[in-house]
Amino acid sequence: MTLFKQCCQVLDDNWLGTFSVPSRGLYPFLWNWDSGFHALGWLHHRPERALIEMETLFSAQWKNGMLPHILFFDYEKYDTYFPSADYWQSSVSSQANQTVPSSGITQPPIHGIVLEKMYQSGLDRSRIKTLTKKAIGYHEYLQAERSHAESGLLFVVHNWESGLDNSVIWDETFARISPTEYSNITFQRKDVHQVQNSTETRPTDQDYKRYLYLLKLLQQNQFGRPKTGYPFLILEPVFNSIYLISGRSLIRLGTALGIETDSIKAQVSKIESSFDQWLWDDNAQFYYPYDLHASRQIRKAYFGNIFPIAAQLPDKELVGKMIERYSGPDLTPIPSVLPSEKGFEEKKYWRGPVWININWMMIQGFLDYDMPDKASWLKEESINLVKKMGLYEYFTPYRSISSGGGYGGKDFSWTSALIMDLIKDNRI
Ligand code: DGY
Repeated sequence: MTLFKQCCQVLDDNWLGTFSVPSRGLYPFLWNWDSGFHALGWLHHRPERALIEMETLFSAQWKNGMLPHILFFDYEKYDTYFPSADYWQSSVSSQANQTVPSSGITQPPIHGIVLEKMYQSGLDRSRIKTLTKKAIGYHEYLQAERSHAESGLLFVVHNWESGLDNSVIWDETFARISPTEYSNITFQRKDVHQVQNSTETRPTDQDYKRYLYLLKLLQQNQFGRPKTGYPFLILEPVFNSIYLISGRSLIRLGTALGIETDSIKAQVSKIESSFDQWLWDDNAQFYYPYDLHASRQIRKAYFGNIFPIAAQLPDKELVGKMIERYSGPDLTPIPSVLPSEKGFEEKKYWRGPVWININWMMIQGFLDYDMPDKASWLKEESINLVKKMGLYEYFTPYRSISSGGGYGGKDFSWTSALIMDLIKDNRI
């Protein structure tokens, strides 16, 4: 079977009728940014499902525009994921969607990017117009509830919100929270029973305690804008870059479909103009997250150092050098953390492994810069990786490994969907 056909098979197998799960067992519900990536795969296989998947996601939008990171459809039927709908209790928020139980935080806002691709592929204009209006409402929610007054940049209030769950960039912030604060948090994890070698590949129990501690604080605040003293407020370059790319897509869609996007234009230009002041280090020639509590940048060697390339933020002349410096002998691009960084772990989720969604977004950025050679290089690296290791959730960054190397969920939907898009992309 061709690689493209194998990818179609994964999406078909993970389809539940109105959306696809990221991976059966490990993630049995709808995940926000995953579904956006799935839609990009469906465009090349069963395009109607791209619309259905996005409509399902937006059907659960909150009154204030929030788009939760997990939607627990039919949660009584699936018992393999923790924290469950009952643990989140999103209904403590008066803004929550009454019909779909969900988490109370969001995930990187990739929807504008996805909707623009759907529009370009010629899908039903009026359905895309309805979705675009909802995506604009979601960006307005982020402006209202997640934007830092001084810079306009967006902060994340939970590591799960960033999508980069256990990255080394959160270590210092978490280390400032005293363990006594979360010593009475008890829980029964389920993820560790769903994958092989979970101690090597999934976050630790100590990590989970901290994640659940933040969850509880947010829940006590009815998942509203955090109050003074909330310990986790971080301006993160990847999240902000994705917001910009998506916002620009929404502006173009607005023009094409006759929708007013003034609020998005204002926020996009505010973020563009303050991005470097807060997140760029001119000495290092890299980007870093900014911790609003500690009032300083978090100097870690993770892929966010270069990810703003995807949003065309650095000058084009810097791009080649930045890519070269964020690399190493024997490394497949693009590791989530460099081995030189304290806290790097080859197999552990966002602490080292390569992720296909990151590579995919970087490839779009290279194309936007008109750097087709770089785009083709990363496309080839990504396709070779899955050919060698399988359609896993994430991969060892080490090239020299002779077998294995794929970790987390097997037959992972976004890996498959984005590889389909890369195979079909005739620009590269
Ligand atoms: C998980 O449970 O690991 C998810 O990534 C959270 O969104």
